[in-house]
Amino acid sequence: MKPSVIVVILCLIVLQTNCEDKCHPKCICQTKILRCLGFTQDDIESDAFANSITTDLERIHITDGNIQELPRNLVGSCADDSSYHLDSLVKLDLQNNMIQKINGQTLHCMKNLEELNLANNQWNVSTVHTRTFTNIQQLKKLNLSNALHDQIDSRDHIKHLRLVFLESGLDKLEVLALDNNKFSVYDKDTANVMCTFSALKRLNLAHNILPSLTFYHVKCLTHLEYLDVSYNSISTFEDYSNHNGLLFSLDQIKKTSNVSVNFIGNEFDCDCHLQGFHDWLKRTEVHVFQKNKLTCHDGLLFNRTIMSVQSAEFKCFSVNSSSNRSGNKAAIGVLVTMFVLLAIFLSAIAYIKRDTIKHFVTSFKRPSMAKKHLLGNYSSVNNENATDIEV
Ligand SMILES: *[C@@H]1O[C@H](CO)[C@@H](O)[C@H](O)[C@H]1NC(C)=O
Ligand SMILES: *[C@@H]1O[C@H](CO)[C@@H](O)[C@H](O)[C@H]1NC(C)=O
Ligand SMILES: *[C@@H]1O[C@H](CO)[C@@H](O)[C@H](O)[C@H]1NC(C)=O
Ligand SMILES: *[C@@H]1O[C@H](CO)[C@@H](O)[C@H](O)[C@H]1NC(C)=O
Ligand SMILES: *[C@@H]1O[C@H](CO)[C@@H](O)[C@H](O)[C@H]1NC(C)=O
Repeated sequence: MKPSVIVVILCLIVLQTNCEDKCHPKCICQTKILRCLGFTQDDIESDAFANSITTDLERIHITDGNIQELPRNLVGSCADDSSYHLDSLVKLDLQNNMIQKINGQTLHCMKNLEELNLANNQWNVSTVHTRTFTNIQQLKKLNLSNALHDQIDSRDHIKHLRLVFLESGLDKLEVLALDNNKFSVYDKDTANVMCTFSALKRLNLAHNILPSLTFYHVKCLTHLEYLDVSYNSISTFEDYSNHNGLLFSLDQIKKTSNVSVNFIGNEFDCDCHLQGFHDWLKRTEVHVFQKNKLTCHDGLLFNRTIMSVQSAEFKCFSVNSSSNRSGNKAAIGVLVTMFVLLAIFLSAIAYIKRDTIKHFVTSFKRPSMAKKHLLGNYSSVNNENATDIEV
């Protein structure tokens, strides 16, 4: 046991107020809760911080700082003696720290951790440290809202996160927040990874730029209660008969769980392709959040609520659709006029140059000569090229 830890434990037993000496100046140390504000890299690696940690802690908040890299054994370590086993710790809050790097052995020896908040950071997800979450198997809530590095393509983030998640096996996870991350792809591979979170109840994908979601498995996310895809870039849906599509999958999930979905803030394109979504909205038992407020963003039905439109009104653009009719007529008129003028012009030229044309036509009666000449030229060009290469 380290001397510092003995001091902490002793002072805890003897007189609790004295323990404040053992608290990092930027922290508030209570028996079960530790709060540290405005930490820097030096603070997180300091002895003063290490001394602020006790095995009684249930919640640790280290927020609003500037910590580039989370070191190994951030708060606990199992390699050392039992004074570093944080078995009571259930919540670790690391939001707002500009964290870029999370070491593979950062989250060690907090085996009962249930909630991890990494929101509002700049995590550059690394494929070197795919085992980031493997030691926190009891995790129920993971907050990665706006957690990823701004200057890295979201497709890379997704690719790397997939590896990290696949390695983690978080089968107790109930809440996963991935909102505000500029995610642009949710494909089969992503769906496969989500499937490993077999206890997932709430999935937040709001405020990304997803144009569509592939859900893929009939038996996946069977406990899902809330899917938030509000404020994304969904403008239309795949045909319902495509069983990888979101709507079909939600109906499947509904068989085992009272699932709700939020589509608010997407810009729906109300043409013939959206009719399937409209019909689904009308018939589905899935609870759709503010169903009556989903509106058409484009086309003839602009600003109408989708629920108020009749199935037959969802049409694809055609030449005779009323708003285009007059415009089209004008365009056709202009084209016809130009064509007539061109015909008149060409006839006039033909008449004036009738002698030249006659001469031109007769010249075609000697084609063999012309052809030979052309072929000769062509083969000589080829030979020239061949010599060039040899030289
Ligand atoms: C992210 O991490 C990779 C690998 O460690 C590194 O090559 C890259 O420069 C980092 N990107 C940023 C924006 O920090
Ligand atoms: C994640 O953290 C952010 C920032 O504190 C918060 O606004 C959001 O509600 C959290 N999400 C969940 C699912 O708890
Ligand atoms: C299903 O969920 C919705 C929305 O959360 C709720 O209003 C409704 O009462 C739930 N239904 C049942 C049967 O639990
Ligand atoms: C759309 O409809 C809403 C409510 O009916 C109205 O307040 C709003 O001004 C309309 N927007 C446009 C651009 O017409
Ligand atoms: C366009 O014209 C066709 C044939 O005249 C008609 O069947 C169709 O309903 C029209 N479409 C619209 C959008 O008016």
